[in-house]
Order: sequence, then structure tokens, then C-alpha cells
Amino acid sequence: MPMTRQVSLASRPETVVLPENFQLLDGATAPLAEGDVLVRHIYMSVDPYMRGLMNDGGVAYAPGFEIGKPLFGRVIGEVAESRNADFREGDFVYGMLDWADWSVARGGESLRRVDPGRAPLSYYLGTLGFPGLTAYVGMMMIGKPKEGETVYVSAASGAVGQVAGQLARIAGARVVGSAGSDEKVRFITGECGFHDGFNYRIAPTVLEALRLHCPEGIDVDFENVGGENLDAVLAHANSFARLAVCGMISQYNLAEPYHLKHVNEIVSKRLNVQGFVVRDHAHLIEQFIDETAGHIADGRIAVEEDVVQGLENAPAAFIGMLAGENFGKRVVQVSPDPTVG
Ligand SMILES: NC(=O)c1ccc[n+]([C@@H]2O[C@H](COP(=O)([O-])OP(=O)(O)OC[C@H]3O[C@@H](n4cnc5c(N)ncnc54)[C@H](OP(=O)(O)O)[C@@H]3O)[C@@H](O)[C@H]2O)c1
Repeated sequence: MPMTRQVSLASRPETVVLPENFQLLDGATAPLAEGDVLVRHIYMSVDPYMRGLMNDGGVAYAPGFEIGKPLFGRVIGEVAESRNADFREGDFVYGMLDWADWSVARGGESLRRVDPGRAPLSYYLGTLGFPGLTAYVGMMMIGKPKEGETVYVSAASGAVGQVAGQLARIAGARVVGSAGSDEKVRFITGECGFHDGFNYRIAPTVLEALRLHCPEGIDVDFENVGGENLDAVLAHANSFARLAVCGMISQYNLAEPYHLKHVNEIVSKRLNVQGFVVRDHAHLIEQFIDETAGHIADGRIAVEEDVVQGLENAPAAFIGMLAGENFGKRVVQVSPDPTVG
């Protein structure tokens, strides 16, 4: 069986994630039993939810990573050997697998085939993957934007945000996004077709920026950031606004969370504030891919990715993504992609 490097959890972060929380180890993949599939990893996703899994006890919807064991996440790879009738050598697959060069999918569990003829393989970790489905669930099933309404998306150039805003634009809403650099704002208002955007890092306050860029208030908030951003949305939302609460990335590394000041507005403005987790909607993924691949092919949805090379750089890629270094969906390329070039 092939030798493989694995990234394991060395220790749990206190607040900010540090390189020493990870360890790169050498090992060998286990022999295949009946039903198993050996996968050579090509692309690996680093996602904000993994920060919660680094904490003792994980998060409400999933147990955490274990110290001394490899981290795991979404991987696109190629089947190198199969003892499973559903998968053949050379198939390209998606699976929840280790942070590693190779791994064995026991019983083929979590694997499904992906089609490189339809879209680049890495897209199945971003716009055509769970980040894209997250955007769909939050925007179309909770936010339900109507023509002419104002939709606000935070972390708008990221994996989820870029899709959320474009879906709202296709639905006919006026879409405003915020992001952490002028270059990111140019991307959302350019290729992604948002109607307006602002760089929250140089805005006097998020609330002042929202008053300026959303003069008619906010009807739908796609909340990726939490903290001051969410507080400003509560203050500036219109009565009966819908808040699809997707994430709170500004809070994940903090010892002491931001205390909301405008929480009373939920009552007085009769706001519909709904949190959601994409895994509850995983059964929609194939239908979502069918619809969204068409939007990408006909140019209605733009895609921005940020590919970091090398498994050994996965911890830094993850730490940097949490700090906003990524421009678009961040993935780590672990080995050559045979469908490219
Ligand atoms: N509910 C679910 O099922 C689900 C599924 C997937 C993702 N999510 C959530 O969706 C959000 C976006 O995730 P993603 O995968 O698309 O990641 P992403 O947006 O591609 O990357 C994270 C981005 O967050 C922004 N950020 C980091 N710290 C921030 C801060 N203090 N204030 C404002 N922005 C900050 C950075 O962009 P800037 O440069 O713009 O600051 C960074 O690039 C996260 O909150 C994540 O937890 C939820």
C-alpha cells in the first residue's frame, strides 16, 4: 500500500489557530478490505467549520477532531484501487477523507463520483460543492429574495458569499456585499454583478457603511460574519426582514464573544432570524449541481478560487483563510490534477 503523509491535530487552539496545533506525520495506508476504495487525493478543502471541530467536544452538530489523529474534510481524488463494485480505478470521487496524500474510504462510505467533463474538479469543493449548496439553502430557502428587495451579504467574495450574492442577483434583488479588501470588492461588483459593495476594514463602522450602501434598508441578510456586522444588520434591517444566519467567522477565534447591542430589534422589527447547517440539506447536492453547472456554463455565475499547493501547506492555508488571506474558495492541491493541461 502507498506511503502517505497525514496532517494530524497536535493540540487544541486556545483562541487563534497556530502552526504548532498541527503535525505532519509519515505513515502507510491500511490494506484494503472487501468494499474499500483507495483514493489518491488531488484537492482538499479547508473550511471555517473546521475551527469549531478543533475545540474539545467539537460543535453541536458534529464531534471534534481527536488529538493525535488526522484531521478530515472534503476531498476530491482519483480511485487508485477498488474492492467496491460501485467504484472503478480511474473514477474521480468526492469524499470526507483525511488531510493526507492518500486514504482508504472504508466500504466506499461518503464517496460519490464527480464528473470532470462538466466542470473543473476543484469546483466540486466550492461553487458546485457544499459551500455553493450552503449559499443556495440560506439564500433561496430562508432569505427568499424578491425582485427589487435589498439583499446584504457579508464575507461576500468567499466561497459561500460569492454564490449567495449571485443567486440573489439572479432572483432580481439589489445585492450589496462587504469584504475585507478593495480587490475583493471589485470582484463582487465586477464579475459577480453585485450592485454595490464596501470594504469593511476601511469603513468608519459597518453600520455607517450599511446606511450609505443600503439606503432603503435591508430585506434579506446572508450572515457570514456575526459580531459587529450582525449588530449593524439588526440596527439597519427593515421590518419583517429575513436573516439567514450561516456563520459567525469574526467570532471563531475569540475568547470573549462580541455582545450584541441591537438584539431587541428582532422583536420590534419582527425579524425572521434563522440559523442553518448545510449538512441537514445534503440530499439536495446532486440537484444543486445540475442547476448550478448550467449557470456556470452560461456565464451567469462567476467562480473565484484560491489554490494553495502542497499538503504540507494545508495548516497555513487554513490559518490564512480564517484571517481573510484567501481570495475566493480556498483549496489545497495535494497532487497533480490529470484533467488539467
Ligand atoms: N451553516 C453552514 O452550513 C455553513 C457552511 C459553510 C460555511 N459556513 C459559514 O459561512 C461563512 C463563510 O465561509 P466560507 O467557507 O465561504 O469561507 P470564505 O468566506 O471563503 O473564507 C472566510 C472569509 O471570512 C472573512 N473573515 C474572516 N475574519 C473576518 C472578520 N473578523 N470579519 C469579517 N470577515 C472575516 C475573510 O474574508 P474578508 O477578507 O472579506 O474579511 C475570509 O476570507 C463562515 O462563517 C462559515 O462558518 C456555514
